[in-house]
Amino acid sequence: MKIFREKDYDAMSRRAATVIAGEIVHNPSCLLGLATGSTPEGTYKYLVDWYKQGLLSFQSVRSVNLDEYVGLAPDHDQSYRYFMQSNLFDHVDIVPENTRVPDGLTKDALAFCAGYDAYIRAQGYVDLQLLGIGRNGHIGFNEPDDHFVKETHVVDLAESTIDANARFFASRDDVPKQAISMGMGAIMGAKKVLLCASGEDKADAICRAVSGAITPQCPGSILQLHPNVVLVADEAALSKLIASGVKV
Ligand code: PGA
Repeated sequence: MKIFREKDYDAMSRRAATVIAGEIVHNPSCLLGLATGSTPEGTYKYLVDWYKQGLLSFQSVRSVNLDEYVGLAPDHDQSYRYFMQSNLFDHVDIVPENTRVPDGLTKDALAFCAGYDAYIRAQGYVDLQLLGIGRNGHIGFNEPDDHFVKETHVVDLAESTIDANARFFASRDDVPKQAISMGMGAIMGAKKVLLCASGEDKADAICRAVSGAITPQCPGSILQLHPNVVLVADEAALSKLIASGVKV
């Protein structure tokens, strides 16, 4: 695993954006696996900036997002489709038909999930998968469990995830209780993984994911088995890993 140690959130965001931009320049029609949440917001700002400066084009880029809340319409301001439109897609030249976010309103989740995986497989898997990590170690919405789930699936959100995401909703009761998440098959099938983390509240999850036991109780730990992971994190998120003696 290659680790970039950055001083703060902004430096982490810029570094992560350079990795994504590098992928796009190298492979203009790449399939990007994209993520939502506070972590990648700054990264998307840099990418939008570089697009506006004419340094980058998304014209042939294709994307698949990791997850979506069950029950939220695409135009709900807390849906992940809305997040992607307002943070990236609406500001760059990506072709709308080339962007995929799981459909939170699907009436047939099983068929939807199978179709999502079939699309990813048919594209030869994701070229670069961007990931944040939850404080409980989740990646996408693959929550701590007694087994890893391979396929895209409907997941019951962990209470700790509902707590963590309540900040975005009027009340905790408004946080959806389920999501559709890409499974570990699609994530581990990606040719390259870009894991990003910022802040002390991620230090424990990063330490367990990078150097702890490989266990579905810390879903991010599966990345230790991936041959091509780049971790971009700030000092605070790396603090526990560094304190444990891992050289970064
Ligand atoms: P965050 O979420 O970027 O909002 O911290 C990351 C995650 O839960 O995967």
